[in-house]
Amino acid sequence: MAILHICTYPEEILHQRAEPITEIDEEVVKLVDHMAETMYSAPGIGLAATQVGVAKQVLVADIAPRRPESELIVLINPEIVAAEGEVIFEEGCLSVPDYQAEVKRHERITVRGLNLKGEEVEIEAEGLLAIVLQHEIDHLNGVLFIDRLSKLKRDLYKRRMRKKVAKGQS
Ligand code: NI
Repeated sequence: MAILHICTYPEEILHQRAEPITEIDEEVVKLVDHMAETMYSAPGIGLAATQVGVAKQVLVADIAPRRPESELIVLINPEIVAAEGEVIFEEGCLSVPDYQAEVKRHERITVRGLNLKGEEVEIEAEGLLAIVLQHEIDHLNGVLFIDRLSKLKRDLYKRRMRKKVAKGQS
């Protein structure tokens, strides 16, 4: 296993749409392994392949790391097939360091995708898991949570980033 480099805003890959996986080969299995290790060590509760520089539709998530109810979720080619309700939650992202903001999401979703064995799985999620899965599926579509904020809030973040870069601390 290995810990992968996590790309951060404004790296271009983060706005790229990921390609569907056509075959779950050894390379995909290795990618998932490395992504899980990278997520746990960050620490984070979700990670999309685009965040580690791979434009493929793979995500990992675990909303209870280091707790007895910890469960690694691996989804390949995930797709939201049903959604309802509305919830506002303060989100952060390993690719958008030192920033949190409230984002509006669906409260409950149904996600369909493949597991690592290539079997079709369907997950009905609510609460934190629903938010994390929507956030990660956004990543696979090249969308960051800051893209879902008002222009005003997004500009504030971008200005702060530019200042940081100008000071040489990135
Ligand atoms: Ni993220």
